[in-house]
Amino acid sequence: MSTFYSRLPPLIYGTAWKKERTAELVEKAVLYGFRGIDTACQPKHYHEAGVGQALQRLKEREISRESLFIQTKFTPLSGQDLTSVPYDPSSSIAEQVGQSFQTSLKNLRVDYLDALLLHSPLSHHQQTMEAWHAMEKLHQQGVVHQIGLSNCYELKTFELIFDEALVKPSVLQNRFYAQTDYDKKLRRWCNEKNIRYQSFWTLTANPNILQSPLLCNLALGRRVTVEQLFFRFLTQQQIIPLIGTCSDKHMQEDLAIFGFTLTDDEISQINTLL
Ligand SMILES: NC(=O)c1ccc[n+]([C@@H]2O[C@H](COP(=O)([O-])OP(=O)(O)OC[C@H]3O[C@@H](n4cnc5c(N)ncnc54)[C@H](OP(=O)(O)O)[C@@H]3O)[C@@H](O)[C@H]2O)c1
Repeated sequence: MSTFYSRLPPLIYGTAWKKERTAELVEKAVLYGFRGIDTACQPKHYHEAGVGQALQRLKEREISRESLFIQTKFTPLSGQDLTSVPYDPSSSIAEQVGQSFQTSLKNLRVDYLDALLLHSPLSHHQQTMEAWHAMEKLHQQGVVHQIGLSNCYELKTFELIFDEALVKPSVLQNRFYAQTDYDKKLRRWCNEKNIRYQSFWTLTANPNILQSPLLCNLALGRRVTVEQLFFRFLTQQQIIPLIGTCSDKHMQEDLAIFGFTLTDDEISQINTLL
């Protein structure tokens, strides 16, 4: 297991849709105890420069860059709002990755990234590999410690990328929901390859689980909320949930999940809901 792999924090604070509140919320999340931050060079959904403002303020409070895990994404043109593309859309895909990376460094006010993810595979495998090889170069230069993928739901697609990659992906960030059978096959494969799985839509896509009598009873018994119970369950399954709460109470509750451990029997029971 590489050092970088083991450095991933068990929970990551997600910064999508926070707009002008991004800096305030990221600063708060880190002060409460989050050490991982997820953003993207995608102005349509993320205010990456707001994360940079928070990092600056945290530095002034003596929270060092090195103590944080900063993850951002290269978002292909299809995922960008064409009025705010953070790179030259007429340049090659490889150049777009380089330009997007430079924009991220400037926005975040850092000189390296802990992780850079490809926000989604491109329409053709060759294009995906062009982006991937450009990310590999950044890794080889030492300015990106880990590279990974997001929104890749087909094992075959991921295997093909993995096989051709010179620097193997170490992260997969996906929607965690019933429509993909909770990525069970993919997650098994990721575990074999030492690829860490990060989940999003974890709460919003799973009201049935959160409202199930099983989860409600287990939560009641342990005097925690169903959200805490579900997040703890996931972390015990080697899943890293992305947490985008704007609430002080929820930030603190989510960080408190490491104060209890679910038994193997409880884990098996919850697994029947997936
Ligand atoms: N790669 C991608 O394509 C992609 C796509 C979507 C998201 N993401 C990432 O994932 C992050 C999380 O997004 P998400 O869509 O999973 O959902 P989210 O933004 O975390 O939303 C969770 C919702 O659940 C509520 N909630 C209730 N109890 C909570 C608790 N204890 N802890 C946390 N939330 C609680 C929150 O409300 P309160 O604010 O009131 O707590 C919020 O409305 C994003 O910020 C982004 O970084 C990535």
